[in-house]
Amino acid sequence: MTAVLTKRKPATKRAAAKKKVSGKAAKKTAAKTTENAKSKLYASLTVQLLSLLKGEHDFIANAANFSALLFNSLPNVNWAGFYFLHGDELVLGPFQGNPACVRIPMGKGVCGVAAQQLETIIVPNVHEFPGHIACDVASNSEIVVPLFDGERLLGVLDLDSPLIGRFDDQDAEGLNELATVFVGHEEGLIHDHD
Ligand code: SME
Repeated sequence: MTAVLTKRKPATKRAAAKKKVSGKAAKKTAAKTTENAKSKLYASLTVQLLSLLKGEHDFIANAANFSALLFNSLPNVNWAGFYFLHGDELVLGPFQGNPACVRIPMGKGVCGVAAQQLETIIVPNVHEFPGHIACDVASNSEIVVPLFDGERLLGVLDLDSPLIGRFDDQDAEGLNELATVFVGHEEGLIHDHD
């Protein structure tokens, strides 16, 4: 009698394969949920920032409240704040988190590179970024968003996280939008200080 070979997996393996497929689908759904939750969070932060800025034009007060909003609303963030461009270096502005280094030369650290390249930089693992300036030993990932008044660089918005890979393109988009709202509101004041 010829043995009939079947490619059908044993019951246990079939169950495992089925689980794998639904696991994949579940992962996709979870990713979508996270994506939606993040976009809702940034939309809500925009509303909150506008309300914090409304009627107030003290630059330091507004920058301080903006950093507090980010620090307290975004999960897994251990530092959020500003470095402003003074001459050819970045100088610490309002922030939330541990005390940080005060002056960062252009091109140095993540902040200095973002300022020099005029680009948002996402660093999934700060320990792999050459020249990263460690202000808090708890930080493992970072995002730095340059702030512009038209084409002029004003400084950077910097966020650190204890989680590896905490920041993604959605964070970059959301934070850039918030930075635009902040700078747009402060524009008059920034020119008064020229
Ligand atoms: N890590 C930054 C320095 C600032 S702190 O993170 C607050 C950098 O490498 O530029």
